Amino acid sequence: MSSPVQLLQALKSNPFVLAPMAGITDHAFRSFMKELGAGVVVSELVSSDGIRFKSGRTLKLMSFADCQRPVGIQLFGDDPQVMADAAKVVEEMGADFVDINFGCPVPKVVRKGAGSAMLKDLPAMAKLLSATVSAVRIPVTIKIRSGWDAHSRNADEVAKLAYNEGITWVAIHGRTRAQAYEGQADWDFIAEVKAKAQLPILGNGDILTAKQAVLRMAQTGVDGVLIGRGALKDPFIFKDALAIWLGQQTDKTLSRNYVYLFQRLALQITAHCDDHITQIQLKKFAAWFATGYPGAALLRKNIYQSKSTEEVMAIALQFFAGVDLIEQEDTSQDGFLMGGHG
Ligand SMILES: Cc1cc2nc3c(=O)[nH]c(=O)nc-3n(C[C@H](O)[C@H](O)[C@H](O)COP(=O)(O)O)c2cc1C
Repeated sequence: MSSPVQLLQALKSNPFVLAPMAGITDHAFRSFMKELGAGVVVSELVSSDGIRFKSGRTLKLMSFADCQRPVGIQLFGDDPQVMADAAKVVEEMGADFVDINFGCPVPKVVRKGAGSAMLKDLPAMAKLLSATVSAVRIPVTIKIRSGWDAHSRNADEVAKLAYNEGITWVAIHGRTRAQAYEGQADWDFIAEVKAKAQLPILGNGDILTAKQAVLRMAQTGVDGVLIGRGALKDPFIFKDALAIWLGQQTDKTLSRNYVYLFQRLALQITAHCDDHITQIQLKKFAAWFATGYPGAALLRKNIYQSKSTEEVMAIALQFFAGVDLIEQEDTSQDGFLMGGHG
């Protein structure tokens, strides 16, 4: 459990935050990314209604380990009392902070008035935040989009509201809800919001390299950056970004041991998932980590045809044994995971 001051101190010492990603930033992946240098980690979005009904699947999504600290649990919902009660459960479980999702563009969530739909109803957002902040002692943070659409980009108003309600930080994915994952995140807009804001602002969107992460920090003055898909293409991104940020040298040839990395990930996943899920997760991560390396397409084909965890590991380790010294190709123009909950 942490106080707002402790959470902000942690952010200051390592401002590179793992963005929440449904189906990806689970218990295993958060521990793995923390080991690889992520500063703060957040769970994927969890339904506040699911917590109310004590759904087993929901409670599993909320599990974490001490090595992940500071770790936040992200909630979504539209009802102030249900959200406040869910936040209390998060606090009782010992998480360091509650993050509320106001960025999810998915129709199933938006139709109920949750996720990014709340960007269109700031009085409702204020009620939800007020109820949640007064229910817990741990920090409450929010993650938003720049606005609902191009005509209603109101992240600055949301930041003002969040400050008045005692929110600890606002993370902004620099796309509108209408954009979904199209176009580019607007970092000039994030910088404008940051310049006016009275509380810490975190920027998010399209950071694919460690250098970009540090550059975004320096150019926009944000207090931290969230990195999502970039960590799937380059799992060393956090370590490298922190090293550059702290003015240390990064020796790529020493630090990029993909075989060791994949074995560490497999250990984490097998510890938390049954064999079926382990196989699915390892296939996905192998395919993502291979992006930009020669033979990635063939690896993906072979790995998706493999029938056992042992086979997946053998194919992946053989592939990764050959990539440590190769420069990763720039694949930033290729669409990559253009859908998600925030
Ligand atoms: C597969 C996937 C799942 C996502 N799930 C969530 C989520 O559960 N909660 C959330 O706030 N954002 C979610 N997002 C959005 C990311 O946190 C992030 O805002 C977005 O991917 C842009 O950042 P990036 O370019 O660094 O990936 C998800 C994104 C992806 C690609």
